[in-house]
Amino acid sequence: MSRNVVVTGGGTGIGRAVAARFAEAGDAVLVIGRRRDVLERAAKELGPAIRPMVCDLADPDAVEALVAGMPERIDVLVNNAGSRETAASGTGLSGTAARWRSDFERNVLTTVLLTEALRDRLAADGGRVVTLSSSAAVRGAGSYGAAKAALHAWNRHLAAQLGPSGITANIVAPGTVAGTEFFGERLTEAEVTRRAGRTLVGRVGVPDEIAGTVVFLASAEAGYITGEVLHADGGELIRR
Ligand SMILES: NC(=O)c1ccc[n+]([C@@H]2O[C@H](COP(=O)([O-])OP(=O)(O)OC[C@H]3O[C@@H](n4cnc5c(N)ncnc54)[C@H](OP(=O)(O)O)[C@@H]3O)[C@@H](O)[C@H]2O)c1
Repeated sequence: MSRNVVVTGGGTGIGRAVAARFAEAGDAVLVIGRRRDVLERAAKELGPAIRPMVCDLADPDAVEALVAGMPERIDVLVNNAGSRETAASGTGLSGTAARWRSDFERNVLTTVLLTEALRDRLAADGGRVVTLSSSAAVRGAGSYGAAKAALHAWNRHLAAQLGPSGITANIVAPGTVAGTEFFGERLTEAEVTRRAGRTLVGRVGVPDEIAGTVVFLASAEAGYITGEVLHADGGELIRR
């Protein structure tokens, strides 16, 4: 049976790989991001199952307008949109406040606002919410890691609220994943080597294997898993 799937940040990187997987399985996939051209390119390349929707998910009014154009039933919500503040400057506490607010908006609000807006449309007995966090939430990484860690606490609360309706809520926490826009110019060859060296498997990840983890948590087989964090990081967190 075809499912209605929402993938935030589905135009690039991990989100695009997730959208491709669901589309291949015959699902109808809404991909959301702020850049129309990026979304339309993904839709063109991935086929007619993909429908682009433009929205800044940190903006509550924009999210309200967005959901008005969405189907009444959502089977799978993948909260993948997120990023790390690198530009916010400023010295002293005002600079600190700007960076923390920015990372909170980029990662927490983009997830929580849409989930709240779609909560009543999530399919009872089988609905799935899968949210992208990061190994940074556990390793520690300033305001970005703290924002992702906030999602872990929020997800447990969400799982408790949705559980009685037969809906699960889980998190995928990737380590370093190459081939996305996340790092921009910062992911040099030397940096890839350094990050590969802190895993157990000696390499960084690729978007498609994170997508596979998301698809598993969205499957019927994963119906007894909820409130969890699945670390897809090549063993980074347990390496001695
Ligand atoms: N790559 C890694 O190593 C890594 C590791 C751990 C966790 N993660 C997490 O994995 C997720 C996906 O990242 P990625 O690596 O695939 O990076 P990416 O290619 O930069 O993807 C992020 C996507 O989110 C969208 N987005 C960002 N802010 C948005 C907003 N306010 N409203 C709507 N869409 C927004 C972006 O599109 P627009 O710019 O067009 O809006 C973009 O398509 C993120 O949550 C990231 O924190 C990544």
